[in-house]
Amino acid sequence: MTHPHRDLIAALRSDLTAAGFTVSALSGLWGPDADAALHRNQRVPALRALARLRSTLGRSTATATLAELFVLGLPVAPAQLAEALPSLGLQGAAELRLISSVDERDESVRPVADLRPYSFIDQLGVGSWWIVSDLGELSLGHAVGEDHVLGVGGASLTLSGLMIQRPVDTALDLGTGCGIQAMHAARHARRVVATDISARALDIAALNAELNGFENIEFRLGSLFEPVADETFDQIVSNPPFVITPRAEGVPSYEYRDGGMVGDALVRHVVRHAGEYLAPGGIAQFLGNWEYTHVEAGLDRVRVWLDETTDPIVDAWVIERDVQHIDEYAETWIRDGGTTPASPQFDRLYGAWLNDFEHRGVERVGFGYVLLRRPDAATPSPLRRLEQVHGPLGGSGSGLGEHLNDCLAGHDWQASRSDAELASSTLVVASDVTVERHYWPGDDDPTAMILRQGGGFGRQNPVDTGLAALVGACDGELTVGAICAALAQLLSVDERALEAELLPHVRSLIDDAMLLPTAAS
Ligand SMILES: C[S@@+](CC[C@H](N)C(=O)[O-])C[C@H]1O[C@@H](n2cnc3c(N)ncnc32)[C@H](O)[C@@H]1O
Repeated sequence: MTHPHRDLIAALRSDLTAAGFTVSALSGLWGPDADAALHRNQRVPALRALARLRSTLGRSTATATLAELFVLGLPVAPAQLAEALPSLGLQGAAELRLISSVDERDESVRPVADLRPYSFIDQLGVGSWWIVSDLGELSLGHAVGEDHVLGVGGASLTLSGLMIQRPVDTALDLGTGCGIQAMHAARHARRVVATDISARALDIAALNAELNGFENIEFRLGSLFEPVADETFDQIVSNPPFVITPRAEGVPSYEYRDGGMVGDALVRHVVRHAGEYLAPGGIAQFLGNWEYTHVEAGLDRVRVWLDETTDPIVDAWVIERDVQHIDEYAETWIRDGGTTPASPQFDRLYGAWLNDFEHRGVERVGFGYVLLRRPDAATPSPLRRLEQVHGPLGGSGSGLGEHLNDCLAGHDWQASRSDAELASSTLVVASDVTVERHYWPGDDDPTAMILRQGGGFGRQNPVDTGLAALVGACDGELTVGAICAALAQLLSVDERALEAELLPHVRSLIDDAMLLPTAAS
């Protein structure tokens, strides 16, 4: 559908391009320390850098003006902004609801929206966009409203970094906000449907899609899966409003993070129902919180949700990345809402959060990634992989999507092979895997060996001599069985027993993409 402000948005695009309003230009303006301060919601270092620039040049530049107005949230002189937006003009910017309306008597013009460059590297290459969202706490000078439309935050980056980017026909972004996930999905999906309960969010997302040249995203208003009833997708992504919020009077309910349900019920709903909206072979990826009660661990709770899901039965891989004590959780989210710690309001909200948790017996809250896949055909034994991976991730410039895809492919490969078939296959060690050996001083033999994954989840698997030797010998030439036979001889142990002991470990290393089947296998 053609955007009603298509021409104005084209003018804005041309001005931002001409100004060179990019992430690297902003870093160049104020340097990495001021960048880091901005991430901590502090703009003074950036402002001082802009003042220095002005005094050196004797004037502002287009990028500096746009940054001061739209990133730092400060007023600028109308003439200065008119220079920075020569095609769009001030009236056009006001029409797009980027600035307050201005007349010639005004000495300054104020931002109404946040507009900043965004750059990324994904499996398809590098990209650079501009993202419009609501003004944040820093620009407003007070807490954001309950209908706040979020820009690109930490959770947004986490999900976009997880996104599997295989070419697909259709994708759904549930709870699109400013549209960031929909745009990422639109890079590899022919058509994307982006939904939200907030009409304002959809307006902003549509503006972002137009600004960044996407014509394959359709926006729909509604709650959860309502706007896509009776449809299925090859991919679903969602950074849903998963934050657990007390349903008590006087506790703000921020649309961008709170789905309005009790506890972790919204995440449970998405876990239980996402499969119904997946086409065969389709994959859903979303973020979530789950509660730990005094009787049930978080991942056990998610397992129950999965077991409640009967039609269709989906494969599930749930990776818990963090667990917070309820005190810390409450502090994080009350602070995130813009309430100052140690204020009476903060303490009141803190009490409401703890009352809610205590009432339901919740002690801690887990956070993690959920991946569901609808098998191509009914499967008697769906994948159930629920694990805690709490440490730092491995290094990968383009995110985890490719790794997740490799792991799923590895799993499918090994799960479809008997032990005899696996033993007659050839494998290679992934290029990011190294082995670390620890020795007691003076000893020739290591006391501990660890397989380290450089990319992916940066896994560290302790291995014994036999498994370390097997992994080391996986060169794509010798079969797993032949390696086991040679090792059995070397270690003077029974060949069949050694193979039976090692094959489950081999399967799990294939699941982690640390061992890879060769094309011949
Ligand atoms: C955490 S934000 C995610 C925004 C964006 N997708 C991202 O990754 O940055 C959650 C979004 O879900 C929307 N939302 C809240 N409740 C919803 C519901 N019941 N159904 C659909 N979307 C909802 C909010 O308006 C918000 O835009």
